[in-house]
Amino acid sequence: MKYSLTDGALPSLRTPCLVVSRKTGERVARALGQRDIFSRATQDFKDKAEETLCVHLSGALARLLIVGGADERKNADEFRKMAAAAAQALLKLPIKAAVVALETRVNGKRTDWKLRTIMHALSQHAYRYERHKSKPAAPPSLAGVRLHVDERKAASTAVKLGNALDAGLALTRDLGNEPPNVCNPGYLLREARKLGRHPKVSVSQLDEKKMRELGMGAFLAVSQGSDTPGHMIIVRYNGGKRGEAPVALVGKGITFDTGGISLKPPAAMDEMKFDMCGAAAVLGATKAAIEAGLALNMVTIVAAAENMPSGDATRPGDIVTSSSGKTIEILNTDAEGRLVLCDALTHAQTFKPRTIIDVATLTGACIVALGSHASAVYANDDGLADALLRAGDDSGDKAWRMPLWDEYQSQLRSNFADVANIGGRDAGSVTAACFLSRFVEGTDWAHMDVAGSAFQGGPRKGATGRPVPLLFSYLCRESGSAG
Ligand code: BES
Ligand code: MN
Ligand code: ZN
Repeated sequence: MKYSLTDGALPSLRTPCLVVSRKTGERVARALGQRDIFSRATQDFKDKAEETLCVHLSGALARLLIVGGADERKNADEFRKMAAAAAQALLKLPIKAAVVALETRVNGKRTDWKLRTIMHALSQHAYRYERHKSKPAAPPSLAGVRLHVDERKAASTAVKLGNALDAGLALTRDLGNEPPNVCNPGYLLREARKLGRHPKVSVSQLDEKKMRELGMGAFLAVSQGSDTPGHMIIVRYNGGKRGEAPVALVGKGITFDTGGISLKPPAAMDEMKFDMCGAAAVLGATKAAIEAGLALNMVTIVAAAENMPSGDATRPGDIVTSSSGKTIEILNTDAEGRLVLCDALTHAQTFKPRTIIDVATLTGACIVALGSHASAVYANDDGLADALLRAGDDSGDKAWRMPLWDEYQSQLRSNFADVANIGGRDAGSVTAACFLSRFVEGTDWAHMDVAGSAFQGGPRKGATGRPVPLLFSYLCRESGSAG
């Protein structure tokens, strides 16, 4: 979807569809001398949340899409729901372009937030993934939306950010949805390399040989069971001042998680193709940052590997040495995400970042704790945790903070090594975060467990693109762009 701005008097717009509130619609119809048509068409319309109605007019303004409840003041969540209903109705119409002019007042929010929220809703609902259907369903015809504003200047940043988020979200969702025989570690590397076409971006990788030299025994313990080699992918974006410390994003990129020798049960195992959604999210957020030209430096690291059982696979009980020097007793090969991430976190610190944020579909326990509505946030710094929760609030991509207290650390005790890779049944998402915390020293760091939010199962199975909206909102703030 392409977004742009427009201004001027509504009745003089030439567009296949104008999206408005009931009152505004009536005013426009009256100005066009089509009030009778409007009155008749809206006779039975319930002007309330989540109702919409298409009114056909004659002339250069062909339709009005009336959005229920849009004349009333809303809170942020109500406005989001209204934007979603409007987006869904709009996308069903057989038109290529439309103008959105929703003047609804929202508590505590300004125009740029409303515009970003509308664009976000349209991007999410317009997304289709039909790449592997021999007869793909016709995609929505809508290709471009103009946002009507009185003050173009203030809104132009919002539109730039909306277009950037649209591109980042689509990348994240495509990577997540791609089947695991296509999206393997090499595929993630090739997709990351595409970001390197931008002049301010460079992409490199550590192959398994290099990782062995660096002593990344934890990553390699996961990757060694697979015939498809793993990669530590590094994307650097220099949008900020030379020498300014970067924000580091780290993503779990397990392109398929069988559990390894601690094999998973077969039910819904196909969903473990989504175990690279953390990687997809950090790449999507990076793409959005690049497209928006955000003024900051970033280093994005993807730990890409496949967790397979084989004659070379790691056994429960194996002890490996991570690149930090810490030894790990691998008691369960299905707790593989933390193994690839600990070496990625160690590597991230070599870039002297100001902040590290890792994103991972790390634990089933996170889904038990929070379900799918919120991503879990863990942080060793309150300011960083608050900033991420605020970004989640701003973008509607909700997150909730979880504890990283020392009390939980003892669950990771090992009789034979420095740390065990599992912490027992209780507080599984917390102990996974505690494991990661041992590999970060002296840097502000946050971990996001997105096992519940990054994809959906069941009849609507698919990648959601989360937490790209949250990350992008955070990055916009960090770079000083309104967002
Ligand atoms: N990728 C899974 C976590 C997961 C499960 C994500 C379901 C999304 C949906 C992870 O690698 C895993 O297997 N975790 C184990 C950890 C356990 C062995 C300590 C889990 O959650 O069962
Ligand atoms: Mn696993
Ligand atoms: Zn996993």
